[in-house]
Amino acid sequence: MREIIIAGNWKLNGTIPETESLLKGLLDGNSQNDKVTVLVCPPYTSLHYAHKLLEGSHIKLGAQDMSAHEKGAYTGEISADMLLTVGARYVILGHSERRQYHAETDELVNAKAKLALAKGLRPIICVGELLEQRERNQTEEVVGTQVAGTLSGFTAEMVQQSVIAYEPVWAIGTGKTATPEMAQEVHKFIRERVAAVDSNAAQTLPILYGGSVKPGNAAGLLEQPDIDGALVGGASLKAADFIGIINAV
Ligand code: PGA
Repeated sequence: MREIIIAGNWKLNGTIPETESLLKGLLDGNSQNDKVTVLVCPPYTSLHYAHKLLEGSHIKLGAQDMSAHEKGAYTGEISADMLLTVGARYVILGHSERRQYHAETDELVNAKAKLALAKGLRPIICVGELLEQRERNQTEEVVGTQVAGTLSGFTAEMVQQSVIAYEPVWAIGTGKTATPEMAQEVHKFIRERVAAVDSNAAQTLPILYGGSVKPGNAAGLLEQPDIDGALVGGASLKAADFIGIINAV
């Protein structure tokens, strides 16, 4: 049995008052379930406050990105050590919105992931194809390149401490979800690719699906053999919806 993870990616949402009301809703409505690791990723400015609210609860904390640098003259950047001191234990890396709007490359994501692991943060490494790439039948080529590039130089132990999220870009925030079968096909392909690094680590690696996951479609996705959880955007901003997805496990 692989670990199942349901992670909420709040993106550019979550002032302090919004963080307070959303987390209180989650804490009131969701009791611990040993079958699932639950995680929220608020914006940087709410992490410390979220950590205080979540202390002693089963809900874990992650950030949405981090710098590839440890410290120094990098205005506007947030370091791994800074994230650790505010209670984050996970970090989303290489989200398609970072790739699209901030020109992040596999090489940069790889550098960030290595630094995160060295510091004791668990990276959630995102991969996924664009609509035109899927239409041109390039999904495996694109995702395979992203997996190889972002995991370049990883040891088996580094894979064991990581999480991968497959998020087809055309399904993010669009209401279009990959069918469970479409998603399963790519998840299986990713696991085979990771097996090239280490076959045992590939078997235990959680591979999450992301892209318009909702309470109504979560169960169908989660019952696929290679889908080990979800990275949830829009539906993680409503406590009832996020709890509905957790309960689908
Ligand atoms: P969505 O976002 O659930 O709103 O489609 C998912 C993500 O970008 O992680």
